[in-house]
Amino acid sequence: MESENFKNNLIITEDGSSSVFSGHFKCTYHSIHGAIRESDHIFIQSGLCYFLEKTKRKHAKILEFGFGTGLNALLSLSYSQSNNLKIDYSAIEAYPLSTELVSALNYTHNDELSKFKEEFLSMHSTQNEILRIGKCFSFSKSISKFEDYKTSEKFDVIFFDAFGPDEQPHLWNRPFLDKIPGLLNENGILVTYSVRGF
Ligand SMILES: C[S@@+](CC[C@H](N)C(=O)[O-])C[C@H]1O[C@@H](n2cnc3c(N)ncnc32)[C@H](O)[C@@H]1O
Repeated sequence: MESENFKNNLIITEDGSSSVFSGHFKCTYHSIHGAIRESDHIFIQSGLCYFLEKTKRKHAKILEFGFGTGLNALLSLSYSQSNNLKIDYSAIEAYPLSTELVSALNYTHNDELSKFKEEFLSMHSTQNEILRIGKCFSFSKSISKFEDYKTSEKFDVIFFDAFGPDEQPHLWNRPFLDKIPGLLNENGILVTYSVRGF
């Protein structure tokens, strides 16, 4: 049984959107100042949107390190539908959240996101298969450790959303980071929310 100290707990951040406190890593999945605000500002605006504007493209392949609550995937889905973009989204996650916790997340209570409630739950429940949402969005999730993840695919945008350098220092240093450039297409970008050392 999961000990109380290592439990994941639901929290509400300052913009009213939910997040999770990881009992194992002793930190939150998002900024306490706003999960939706942070995810939109960093991963959607400074990542996906920046890449599409810079390359003048209408499609992108995204790889996310750390699917977690699924918020980045949900916001990418919403952004692709509002802007008529084709997105192929792949996510890696070794420690999926419990069904109970996923159903307590409040992201689809938001007006703009409420139409994706079923799709959001399907993204959480699917494993190793491709989920097609509408004509333009595909989603797949690999239940694996980042360290063991292997693919021959290449991506345009990497959302690097592991826990921070204090919690997971080896993921913010070589040799782990050396594998990332090989996952990117030409002109591809990596976007993240922190940095460590050199
Ligand atoms: C900062 S949180 C996730 C944020 C997520 N993008 C979201 O919006 O909820 C980091 C995520 O990485 C996952 N994770 C941490 N270390 C991992 C590893 N070595 N391999 C795979 N997943 C890992 C955690 O389980 C967690 O879901």
